[in-house]
Amino acid sequence: MIEIIDLYKTFNKVHVLNGLNLHVRAGETKVVIGRSGAGKSVLLKSIVGIIQPEGGCIRIGGVDVTKASAAEVNRARRHIGLVFQNGALFDSFDVGENVGFVLDEFTALTEAEKRARVAHTLSLVGLSGIEDMMPSQLSGGMRKRISLARVLCMQPEIILYDEPTSEVDPVTADAIQKLIIGVRDRLKVTSIVVTHDMNTAYKVADSIAMFYHGQVIADGTPDEIRSSRHPVVRQFINGEAEGPITDDESLKFGHVK
Ligand SMILES: Nc1ncnc2c1ncn2[C@@H]1O[C@H](COP(=O)(O)OP(=O)(O)O)[C@@H](O)[C@H]1O
Ligand SMILES: [Mg+2]
Repeated sequence: MIEIIDLYKTFNKVHVLNGLNLHVRAGETKVVIGRSGAGKSVLLKSIVGIIQPEGGCIRIGGVDVTKASAAEVNRARRHIGLVFQNGALFDSFDVGENVGFVLDEFTALTEAEKRARVAHTLSLVGLSGIEDMMPSQLSGGMRKRISLARVLCMQPEIILYDEPTSEVDPVTADAIQKLIIGVRDRLKVTSIVVTHDMNTAYKVADSIAMFYHGQVIADGTPDEIRSSRHPVVRQFINGEAEGPITDDESLKFGHVK
């Protein structure tokens, strides 16, 4: 469904994506983990066309969107939704408008059909009937669900989630994890979930890929990743720093002052 082949992207002479390969099967939820700055968001933005990679290809349903004609690219990308990390809601629009405005741009639905689609989509994320609320009245978790509703309302085949559970409390994180699983099971979408939260990764993943220095250094089932012997993977999933952050010798050797 999604094939990333030998992808390169450089910012300020740094190879953020350095020959990256990643395959996502139809209907699968692939979780991408890696430290801050590893290039996870750059990958998602490259897939939706916000960022242009310098080399390699991105095949969506067989179409290489880095080389196809504009019309083909639009057709392929019409079926992809990106749920942004910060929600990207418009504060002066109410919830109904925030969810439904994409329908104005990309569909020819009537006003009544649009209202019905928005209402249905809000019910999918467990927020029926809040069309008239303003973003300022919503909790962080609700904002994240509204931004997912905006994507769902386009009925995409592929959903890309950027840090869906960052900055929310554990109960809200659990609700969002269940939504991601529910969307996969009920709507049969193919997803990439970017996160640095291993709890989310283990819960929602069919498979997990770890980014490091612009490449995928491990890719496997949650159990395979959990039992990986790769030192960088072990360090990441166990939440260990790469070295002491102090020059104080007494601390380096674990003495208590
Ligand atoms: N538009 C941009 N211009 C310059 N540098 C960028 C841009 N987008 C991302 N970067 C750099 O690319 C690196 C990877 O960023 P990003 O993909 O956002 O990391 P993360 O894995 O945390 O999502 C970072 O060092 C970031 O500063
Ligand atoms: Mg990011």
